[in-house]
Amino acid sequence: MLNIGIIIGSTREGRVGPQVASWIQTQGIDSSLNLSLVDLKEFELPLLGTGEPKNFATFQATIKALDGFIFVTPEYNHSIPASLKNAIDYLRDEWANKVAGIVSYGGLGGARATEHLRGILGELQVADVRTHVAFLMNVDFKNWSEFAPQDYHKANVTNLFKQVKAWGEALKTLRS
Ligand SMILES: Cc1cc2nc3c(=O)[nH]c(=O)nc-3n(C[C@H](O)[C@H](O)[C@H](O)COP(=O)(O)O)c2cc1C
Repeated sequence: MLNIGIIIGSTREGRVGPQVASWIQTQGIDSSLNLSLVDLKEFELPLLGTGEPKNFATFQATIKALDGFIFVTPEYNHSIPASLKNAIDYLRDEWANKVAGIVSYGGLGGARATEHLRGILGELQVADVRTHVAFLMNVDFKNWSEFAPQDYHKANVTNLFKQVKAWGEALKTLRS
């Protein structure tokens, strides 16, 4: 079974990212994927090059062991949060030739952050699938804080898992 990490991209106090990531993991119970949560906050990575990343080896080993990723990202100023970009910048080979799905949230579903993330992943040779799950802060959250997704997202999430599985299997051959 493919090991897919659900990466929680936001690290700020009071973030909603973990609620979204946990829900995605729950939806994947029949996906035939081994889904684990990867919380960037736990690694406490300083800005690249500005201090001792004491958990770097653990972070590197965690990403290396995965066959692919589902990035759960909010939109900050029309892009991904610095925490996610910084974590991505720490590694190169460990990301390459793997599959990714994107789940985003924001006022407009995090659409602009998603398009930025696709560009970044292209540089790292990460193959991001077409299906994109986008949650609207005004619709899928109560008071912008309590995650309460609309039912219609479920079909999209199922498609996301299917595409991640198909491309994830195919990309394994490049890494063997
Ligand atoms: C610094 C910052 C910038 C933001 N910029 C945007 C934005 O450009 N577009 C948007 O839709 N939401 C924006 N938001 C709102 C976030 O989408 C919303 O607060 C969301 O809960 C953030 O995710 P998090 O709680 O996991 O950190 C911004 C939030 C922050 C903290």
